Amino acid sequence: MPQSFFVVSGENVELARDEIIAISKSYDIKTSFKTDSKLVITNSTIPWSKISQRATFVRTAGKIAGTFSDLFSEVDLSLMHKPETFACRAINLTSKKMDLSKIEKTAGAAIKQTSGAKVSLSNPSLTVYLIFTDSQSYIGYTTKISEPPRPKKVIKSSSELHWKLSRVMVNLSGLNEKETLCDPFCGSGTILLEAESMGIHSIGIDFDEKMCNIAKKNLSSNGFNSKIINAGYEHLQKIKDKIDGIVTDLPYGNSSKSSQSPKKLLHDFISILPKRKKIAIMYKKGAMDQIELNPTKKYDIYRHKSLTRTIVVK
Ligand SMILES: C[S@@+](CC[C@H](N)C(=O)[O-])C[C@H]1O[C@@H](n2cnc3c(N)ncnc32)[C@H](O)[C@@H]1O
Repeated sequence: MPQSFFVVSGENVELARDEIIAISKSYDIKTSFKTDSKLVITNSTIPWSKISQRATFVRTAGKIAGTFSDLFSEVDLSLMHKPETFACRAINLTSKKMDLSKIEKTAGAAIKQTSGAKVSLSNPSLTVYLIFTDSQSYIGYTTKISEPPRPKKVIKSSSELHWKLSRVMVNLSGLNEKETLCDPFCGSGTILLEAESMGIHSIGIDFDEKMCNIAKKNLSSNGFNSKIINAGYEHLQKIKDKIDGIVTDLPYGNSSKSSQSPKKLLHDFISILPKRKKIAIMYKKGAMDQIELNPTKKYDIYRHKSLTRTIVVK
Protein backbone atom coordinates (compact mmCIF):
# COMPACT_ATOMS: atom_id res chain seq x y z
CA MET A 1 0.00 0.00 0.00
CA PRO A 2 1.36 3.49 -0.81
CA GLN A 3 2.92 5.39 2.05
CA SER A 4 2.33 9.12 2.41
CA PHE A 5 3.96 11.66 4.69
CA PHE A 6 2.50 14.74 6.35
CA VAL A 7 4.54 17.29 8.29
CA VAL A 8 2.25 19.25 10.59
CA SER A 9 2.48 22.75 12.00
CA GLY A 10 0.57 24.37 14.82
CA GLU A 11 0.81 24.50 18.57
CA ASN A 12 -1.16 21.35 19.23
CA VAL A 13 0.78 18.60 17.47
CA GLU A 14 -1.46 15.80 18.77
CA LEU A 15 -4.56 17.51 17.38
CA ALA A 16 -2.84 18.13 14.02
CA ARG A 17 -1.67 14.50 13.77
CA ASP A 18 -5.07 13.11 14.79
CA GLU A 19 -6.76 15.25 12.14
CA ILE A 20 -4.75 13.54 9.37
CA ILE A 21 -5.49 10.09 10.77
CA ALA A 22 -9.22 10.89 11.10
CA ILE A 23 -9.49 12.19 7.51
CA SER A 24 -7.64 9.17 6.15
CA LYS A 25 -9.80 6.74 8.15
CA SER A 26 -12.99 8.51 7.05
CA TYR A 27 -12.24 7.21 3.54
CA ASP A 28 -10.28 4.05 4.28
CA ILE A 29 -10.91 2.47 7.66
CA LYS A 30 -7.93 0.15 7.13
CA THR A 31 -5.47 3.08 7.08
CA SER A 32 -2.52 2.31 9.32
CA PHE A 33 -0.15 5.01 10.46
CA LYS A 34 2.84 5.91 12.56
CA THR A 35 3.74 9.23 14.08
CA ASP A 36 7.16 10.62 14.86
CA SER A 37 7.30 14.14 16.30
CA LYS A 38 5.57 16.45 13.75
CA LEU A 39 5.53 13.73 11.11
CA VAL A 40 2.65 11.37 10.28
CA ILE A 41 3.18 8.47 7.89
CA THR A 42 0.09 6.71 6.59
CA ASN A 43 -0.34 3.42 4.73
CA SER A 44 -3.56 3.98 2.88
CA THR A 45 -5.33 3.68 -0.45
CA ILE A 46 -6.21 7.37 -0.19
CA PRO A 47 -3.88 9.72 -2.10
CA TRP A 48 -1.93 12.15 0.07
CA SER A 49 -3.28 15.12 -1.92
CA LYS A 50 -6.88 14.35 -0.93
CA ILE A 51 -5.97 14.36 2.75
CA SER A 52 -3.68 17.36 2.46
CA GLN A 53 -6.35 19.46 0.74
CA ARG A 54 -8.66 18.90 3.72
CA ALA A 55 -6.23 19.02 6.62
CA THR A 56 -5.87 22.31 8.50
CA PHE A 57 -2.37 22.02 9.91
CA VAL A 58 -0.34 20.34 7.16
CA ARG A 59 2.88 22.17 6.31
CA THR A 60 4.11 19.72 3.68
CA ALA A 61 2.87 16.39 2.37
CA GLY A 62 3.72 13.87 -0.31
CA LYS A 63 4.66 10.28 -1.07
CA ILE A 64 7.30 8.36 0.82
CA ALA A 65 10.01 6.93 -1.44
CA GLY A 66 12.02 5.26 1.32
CA THR A 67 14.17 5.64 4.39
CA PHE A 68 17.91 6.11 4.59
CA SER A 69 20.75 6.25 7.04
CA ASP A 70 23.33 7.40 4.51
CA LEU A 71 21.67 9.72 2.02
CA PHE A 72 24.12 9.28 -0.83
CA SER A 73 24.60 5.54 -0.82
CA GLU A 74 21.11 4.29 -0.09
CA VAL A 75 18.46 6.50 -1.66
CA ASP A 76 16.81 4.91 -4.67
CA LEU A 77 15.71 7.81 -6.86
CA SER A 78 14.11 5.51 -9.42
CA LEU A 79 11.05 5.36 -7.14
CA MET A 80 10.26 8.94 -8.11
CA HIS A 81 8.94 10.11 -11.46
CA LYS A 82 11.69 11.59 -13.57
CA PRO A 83 11.05 15.32 -13.20
CA GLU A 84 11.72 18.10 -15.66
CA THR A 85 12.67 20.41 -12.85
CA PHE A 86 13.08 19.76 -9.16
CA ALA A 87 13.98 21.31 -5.82
CA CYS A 88 15.38 19.60 -2.77
CA ARG A 89 14.14 20.52 0.70
CA ALA A 90 15.43 19.21 4.02
CA ILE A 91 13.22 19.24 7.11
CA ASN A 92 14.77 18.87 10.53
CA LEU A 93 12.40 17.32 13.08
CA THR A 94 15.23 16.09 15.30
CA SER A 95 16.33 17.62 18.57
CA LYS A 96 19.73 18.48 17.03
CA LYS A 97 20.87 21.41 14.88
CA MET A 98 21.52 20.58 11.21
CA ASP A 99 22.95 22.55 8.31
CA LEU A 100 19.89 22.15 6.07
CA SER A 101 21.05 24.32 3.19
CA LYS A 102 24.26 22.29 2.90
CA ILE A 103 22.22 19.04 2.88
CA GLU A 104 19.85 20.46 0.25
CA LYS A 105 22.72 21.57 -1.99
CA THR A 106 24.59 18.27 -1.76
CA ALA A 107 21.48 16.14 -2.27
CA GLY A 108 20.32 18.43 -5.11
CA ALA A 109 23.64 18.01 -6.92
CA ALA A 110 23.40 14.20 -6.58
CA ILE A 111 19.81 14.12 -7.88
CA LYS A 112 20.74 16.39 -10.79
CA GLN A 113 23.55 14.06 -11.77
CA THR A 114 21.49 10.86 -11.61
CA SER A 115 18.27 12.18 -13.14
CA GLY A 116 19.53 14.86 -15.53
CA ALA A 117 16.70 17.14 -14.28
CA LYS A 118 17.19 20.89 -13.87
CA VAL A 119 16.95 22.65 -10.52
CA SER A 120 14.11 25.15 -10.14
CA LEU A 121 13.75 26.53 -6.65
CA SER A 122 10.82 28.80 -7.46
CA ASN A 123 8.61 26.53 -9.57
CA PRO A 124 9.78 22.89 -9.47
CA SER A 125 7.65 20.15 -11.06
CA LEU A 126 8.86 17.81 -8.29
CA THR A 127 10.04 18.63 -4.78
CA VAL A 128 12.18 16.04 -3.04
CA TYR A 129 11.99 16.09 0.74
CA LEU A 130 14.63 14.80 3.11
CA ILE A 131 12.93 14.49 6.46
CA PHE A 132 15.03 13.86 9.55
CA THR A 133 13.55 12.70 12.84
CA ASP A 134 15.41 11.43 15.92
CA SER A 135 14.60 7.82 15.04
CA GLN A 136 14.62 7.68 11.21
CA SER A 137 15.37 9.65 8.04
CA TYR A 138 12.88 9.60 5.18
CA ILE A 139 12.94 10.62 1.56
CA GLY A 140 9.66 11.75 0.04
CA TYR A 141 8.45 13.71 -2.94
CA THR A 142 5.61 15.98 -3.92
CA THR A 143 4.19 17.18 -7.17
CA LYS A 144 2.29 20.46 -7.34
CA ILE A 145 -1.35 20.37 -6.29
CA SER A 146 -3.86 23.18 -6.49
CA GLU A 147 -5.28 24.37 -3.20
CA PRO A 148 -9.10 24.54 -3.16
CA PRO A 149 -10.39 28.12 -2.64
CA ARG A 150 -11.11 29.13 0.94
CA PRO A 151 -14.78 29.92 1.64
CA LYS A 152 -15.37 33.63 2.20
CA LYS A 153 -17.31 35.04 5.10
CA VAL A 154 -19.34 38.09 4.12
CA ILE A 155 -20.72 38.74 7.63
CA LYS A 156 -18.55 38.19 10.67
CA SER A 157 -19.72 37.72 14.25
CA SER A 158 -18.04 38.55 17.56
CA SER A 159 -18.70 35.01 18.83
CA GLU A 160 -17.48 33.19 15.74
CA LEU A 161 -15.04 30.34 16.01
CA HIS A 162 -11.77 30.64 14.09
CA TRP A 163 -12.02 28.79 10.76
CA LYS A 164 -9.02 26.59 11.62
CA LEU A 165 -10.65 25.23 14.77
CA SER A 166 -13.95 24.83 12.91
CA ARG A 167 -12.26 22.89 10.12
CA VAL A 168 -10.19 20.69 12.41
CA MET A 169 -13.37 19.73 14.32
CA VAL A 170 -15.19 18.75 11.13
CA ASN A 171 -12.19 16.60 10.19
CA LEU A 172 -11.78 15.04 13.65
CA SER A 173 -15.43 13.96 13.53
CA GLY A 174 -14.51 11.61 10.66
CA LEU A 175 -17.33 12.76 8.37
CA ASN A 176 -16.88 12.49 4.61
CA GLU A 177 -18.63 13.76 1.48
CA LYS A 178 -21.29 11.06 1.55
CA GLU A 179 -22.50 12.22 4.96
CA THR A 180 -24.43 15.09 6.53
CA LEU A 181 -23.25 17.22 9.44
CA CYS A 182 -25.43 19.16 11.85
CA ASP A 183 -24.28 22.17 13.91
CA PRO A 184 -27.10 22.82 16.44
CA PHE A 185 -25.44 26.06 17.71
CA CYS A 186 -24.41 27.27 14.26
CA GLY A 187 -24.08 31.03 14.94
CA SER A 188 -22.62 32.72 11.84
CA GLY A 189 -22.08 29.32 10.18
CA THR A 190 -18.29 28.88 10.31
CA ILE A 191 -18.45 25.10 10.88
CA LEU A 192 -21.06 24.73 8.11
CA LEU A 193 -18.89 26.76 5.71
CA GLU A 194 -15.85 24.58 6.39
CA ALA A 195 -17.88 21.38 6.01
CA GLU A 196 -19.50 22.49 2.73
CA SER A 197 -16.13 23.64 1.36
CA MET A 198 -14.98 20.03 1.81
CA GLY A 199 -18.10 18.69 0.10
CA ILE A 200 -19.85 17.62 3.33
CA HIS A 201 -23.52 18.57 3.32
CA SER A 202 -24.53 20.44 6.45
CA ILE A 203 -27.56 21.63 8.41
CA GLY A 204 -27.44 24.47 10.94
CA ILE A 205 -29.70 25.21 13.90
CA ASP A 206 -29.67 28.38 16.03
CA PHE A 207 -32.30 29.82 18.35
CA ASP A 208 -31.30 33.38 17.44
CA GLU A 209 -33.02 34.49 14.21
CA LYS A 210 -30.37 37.16 13.62
CA MET A 211 -27.62 34.51 13.66
CA CYS A 212 -29.65 32.30 11.31
CA ASN A 213 -29.85 35.15 8.79
CA ILE A 214 -26.09 35.77 9.05
CA ALA A 215 -25.36 32.05 8.54
CA LYS A 216 -27.71 31.95 5.51
CA LYS A 217 -25.93 34.92 3.90
CA ASN A 218 -22.48 33.47 4.59
CA LEU A 219 -23.46 30.15 3.03
CA SER A 220 -25.38 31.46 0.01
CA SER A 221 -22.58 33.88 -0.91
CA ASN A 222 -20.35 30.82 -1.39
CA GLY A 223 -23.00 28.96 -3.38
CA PHE A 224 -23.69 26.50 -0.53
CA ASN A 225 -27.24 25.44 0.15
CA SER A 226 -27.12 24.18 3.76
CA LYS A 227 -30.49 24.34 5.48
CA ILE A 228 -30.61 26.73 8.44
CA ILE A 229 -33.32 26.11 11.02
CA ASN A 230 -34.34 28.80 13.49
CA ALA A 231 -35.01 26.69 16.60
CA GLY A 232 -33.51 25.52 19.88
CA TYR A 233 -30.85 22.77 19.75
CA GLU A 234 -33.56 20.23 20.76
CA HIS A 235 -34.68 20.35 17.12
CA LEU A 236 -31.77 17.97 16.54
CA GLN A 237 -33.98 15.12 17.72
CA LYS A 238 -36.47 15.81 14.92
CA ILE A 239 -33.83 15.57 12.19
CA LYS A 240 -31.67 12.83 13.71
CA ASP A 241 -32.39 10.37 10.89
CA LYS A 242 -31.13 12.85 8.29
CA ILE A 243 -27.71 13.43 9.84
CA ASP A 244 -24.54 11.39 10.35
CA GLY A 245 -22.64 13.62 12.72
CA ILE A 246 -22.78 16.61 15.06
CA VAL A 247 -20.01 19.18 15.08
CA THR A 248 -20.61 22.23 17.24
CA ASP A 249 -19.23 25.00 19.42
CA LEU A 250 -21.40 25.80 22.45
CA PRO A 251 -21.96 29.29 23.91
CA TYR A 252 -19.29 30.42 26.40
CA GLY A 253 -21.52 32.77 28.35
CA ASN A 254 -19.86 35.94 27.00
CA SER A 255 -20.67 37.47 23.61
CA SER A 256 -23.25 35.08 22.18
CA LYS A 257 -26.86 34.80 23.36
CA SER A 258 -27.65 31.82 25.53
CA SER A 259 -30.84 30.27 26.83
CA GLN A 260 -29.18 28.84 29.97
CA SER A 261 -25.84 28.91 31.78
CA PRO A 262 -23.09 27.29 29.64
CA LYS A 263 -22.77 24.39 32.10
CA LYS A 264 -26.50 23.59 32.24
CA LEU A 265 -26.82 24.00 28.47
CA LEU A 266 -23.94 21.59 27.84
CA HIS A 267 -25.37 19.05 30.27
CA ASP A 268 -28.88 19.22 28.74
CA PHE A 269 -27.48 19.11 25.21
CA ILE A 270 -25.36 16.02 25.91
CA SER A 271 -28.41 14.30 27.40
CA ILE A 272 -30.38 14.62 24.12
CA LEU A 273 -27.57 13.69 21.72
CA PRO A 274 -28.79 11.05 19.29
CA LYS A 275 -26.97 7.70 19.51
CA ARG A 276 -24.51 6.32 16.93
CA LYS A 277 -23.51 9.66 15.42
CA LYS A 278 -20.01 10.97 14.79
CA ILE A 279 -19.36 13.75 17.27
CA ALA A 280 -16.96 16.68 17.78
CA ILE A 281 -18.03 19.23 20.38
CA MET A 282 -16.23 22.29 21.72
CA TYR A 283 -17.01 23.96 25.04
CA LYS A 284 -15.32 26.06 27.70
CA LYS A 285 -12.95 23.89 29.72
CA GLY A 286 -14.49 22.98 33.05
CA ALA A 287 -18.11 23.26 31.85
CA MET A 288 -18.41 19.46 32.00
CA ASP A 289 -17.31 18.01 35.37
CA GLN A 290 -17.33 14.35 34.61
CA ILE A 291 -16.95 13.01 31.14
CA GLU A 292 -20.68 12.59 30.62
CA LEU A 293 -20.11 11.82 26.97
CA ASN A 294 -17.39 9.18 27.39
CA PRO A 295 -15.37 10.60 24.48
CA THR A 296 -12.68 8.71 22.58
CA LYS A 297 -10.45 11.78 22.49
CA LYS A 298 -10.20 15.08 24.35
CA TYR A 299 -8.02 18.15 23.55
CA ASP A 300 -7.51 21.35 25.50
CA ILE A 301 -6.91 24.47 23.40
CA TYR A 302 -5.50 27.41 25.37
CA ARG A 303 -6.71 30.82 24.15
CA HIS A 304 -5.95 33.24 26.98
CA LYS A 305 -5.76 33.07 30.75
CA SER A 306 -9.52 33.02 31.26
CA LEU A 307 -10.41 30.82 28.28
CA THR A 308 -9.24 27.31 27.52
CA ARG A 309 -11.50 25.39 25.19
CA THR A 310 -12.01 21.64 25.22
CA ILE A 311 -12.79 19.60 22.12
CA VAL A 312 -14.27 16.14 22.67
CA VAL A 313 -14.52 13.63 19.85
CA LYS A 314 -16.55 10.44 19.77
C1 LIG B 1 -20.41 30.20 20.40
S1 LIG B 1 -21.73 30.61 19.36
C2 LIG B 1 -21.41 29.67 17.91
C3 LIG B 1 -20.46 30.37 17.02
C4 LIG B 1 -20.31 29.70 15.68
N1 LIG B 1 -19.52 28.49 15.78
C5 LIG B 1 -19.69 30.68 14.69
O1 LIG B 1 -18.53 30.46 14.27
O2 LIG B 1 -20.32 31.70 14.40
C6 LIG B 1 -23.10 29.78 20.04
C7 LIG B 1 -24.42 29.98 19.32
O3 LIG B 1 -25.40 29.20 20.03
C8 LIG B 1 -26.64 29.85 19.93
N2 LIG B 1 -27.51 29.33 21.01
C9 LIG B 1 -27.47 29.60 22.34
N3 LIG B 1 -28.39 28.88 23.01
C10 LIG B 1 -29.02 28.12 22.08
C11 LIG B 1 -30.05 27.13 22.15
N4 LIG B 1 -30.64 26.81 23.31
N5 LIG B 1 -30.41 26.50 21.01
C12 LIG B 1 -29.82 26.83 19.81
N6 LIG B 1 -28.88 27.79 19.69
C13 LIG B 1 -28.47 28.40 20.80
C14 LIG B 1 -26.31 31.33 20.01
O4 LIG B 1 -27.33 32.12 19.41
C15 LIG B 1 -24.96 31.39 19.27
O5 LIG B 1 -25.15 31.78 17.93
